[in-house]
Amino acid sequence: MSIDALLRPFTTPKLSLKNRLLMAPMTRQFSPDGVPGANVVDYYRRRAEGDVGLIITEGTTVGHKASSFDSSIPNFYTDEALAGWADVVKAVHAAGGKIAPQLWHVGCARKPGSGPFPDYPSATPSGYALPGKKVGEPLTTTEIDEIVKAFGEAGRNAKMLGFDALEIHGAHGYMIDDFLWEGLNTRDDKYGGSRAKRSQFAVEIVQAIREHVGEDFPIIFRFSQWKQQNYDARLATTPDELMEVLAPISDAGVDIFHCSQRRFWEPEFDGSELNLAGWTRKLLNKPTITVGSVSLNEEFITTFMGGEAGSADIGELLQRLEADEFDLVAVGRALIANPDWLKQVQQGDVSALKTYDKSLLAALA
Ligand code: FNR
Repeated sequence: MSIDALLRPFTTPKLSLKNRLLMAPMTRQFSPDGVPGANVVDYYRRRAEGDVGLIITEGTTVGHKASSFDSSIPNFYTDEALAGWADVVKAVHAAGGKIAPQLWHVGCARKPGSGPFPDYPSATPSGYALPGKKVGEPLTTTEIDEIVKAFGEAGRNAKMLGFDALEIHGAHGYMIDDFLWEGLNTRDDKYGGSRAKRSQFAVEIVQAIREHVGEDFPIIFRFSQWKQQNYDARLATTPDELMEVLAPISDAGVDIFHCSQRRFWEPEFDGSELNLAGWTRKLLNKPTITVGSVSLNEEFITTFMGGEAGSADIGELLQRLEADEFDLVAVGRALIANPDWLKQVQQGDVSALKTYDKSLLAALA
């Protein structure tokens, strides 16, 4: 099995990448007072030197008073934080890489008293952080407008700083997903009710960003069925329902959808082998990114480099990529453990690959 499918360039009018490998966004919490420093610059530089086609940064919070839950999560709005990000962009470009910030508002993941703004309650579409637990009042439409504006301004900053694209974090039960998911969104105004209405908040965010960045700047939208509050939660149980959620968001001006699954090989709907990225591509006819447990550890590598041991999963990934089920592949934990794993894989140098372990999160290496 060859890894050529992963090494093929990705070429679209708005975004060209040297290969199909992306670094998945991963919160690291090494930015004191929200400011990414030299260690963050070096961390991303190492992945660019490792030939990652597009780095998506850890979630970085937009300029709204309740967007974060920890002061060591990097911000995307103060002068100091933006200067730190400018250094990251410069280093990644100097190493021949490309990079997109992941724009984040944590929504109901924020608990009262957590994060840099202890006086601000967690605000959700419905007022509930978890089903049955009231932790904050529902967002007013004024607050919704403020958050939309904050995303728009973050988009402007992404372009101004020279990023190559941006990603909107619409996944995993954070603010935007709080609206998409009926488990949390009990509003009866234009932001709640049908799937299309639950998408309205995301639509306004995409539109606000588009207004600031213009038509030529690539916008990626990340979404998921699963929520951190509930791994079995779903936005859609059929392709038609998925279309109801995504079509308005796509029409608002998204270029690429990042379809977050925990295991990429799991079929999304009964009666088809297509995964979430496969269905999204088929329904919307736009490029998609798959992700989830592409763990290129020694066993997997042995398999797809022609050995006998290991699982077929990576071979399956490459076959699906080759068949254009999806366009791009994001890898998370394996890239924390091995900043240059693509090079190692290309060279067949699998003996040096490290297996991911949670203890690796203690340092930014
Ligand atoms: C994550 N993930 C994640 N996702 C996201 O959209 N924004 C984020 O800030 C984070 N933060 C984060 C931190 C850490 C330590 C991990 C391990 C994961 C999810 C991540 O992007 C990815 O979807 C999963 O890790 C699955 O991919 P892998 O790791 O199986 O390749």
